Amino acid sequence: MANDLCTEEEVSRLVHDFYAQVRKDEVLGPIFDAHIDDWDRHLARLVDFWSAILRRTGRFTGAPMPKHAALPGLTAELFQRWLALFRKVAATQANQAMAAHACAMAERIAQSLWLGWQMAHDGDRPHAPIAAPL
Ligand code: HEM
Repeated sequence: MANDLCTEEEVSRLVHDFYAQVRKDEVLGPIFDAHIDDWDRHLARLVDFWSAILRRTGRFTGAPMPKHAALPGLTAELFQRWLALFRKVAATQANQAMAAHACAMAERIAQSLWLGWQMAHDGDRPHAPIAAPL
């Protein structure tokens, strides 16, 4: 996929719209607020992350796996809630080709972050994937 799927502005809109909803969410909002003190910096990192995925800009240099593995109390239900909100916001975006690709990637990354979290925390227990959306 070439980086003509979407513009940088469309990536930025998706990320800002999504995290505006995350911050308002009664379950997810407090988790983010407990860990993020500089939202402008966090949003800039997430725009880089999604720009790297959706536009192949290669701009993201972070390490999501250890950062999520270090968060206490993550569950499959939390990831499912995150994904449901992501899909809801993606559906409102003008560029639906971008939205569809972003949702597919979000789902794969969420599964992998959840697997990594379980390996870090519950290494001995059988690992469960995030359930498919209803
Ligand atoms: C239950 C679901 C999730 C929760 C509660 C959550 C929470 C967080 C928190 C608190 C941080 C900041 C960590 C820090 O800076 O120390 C973070 C960073 C991040 N999250 Fe998530 N997250 C979730 C799912 C996801 C998913 C599914 C993706 C990708 C599709 C994602 C992408 C990222 C990225 C790219 C960062 C920045 C990593 C970095 O700075 O290296 N998150 N997340």
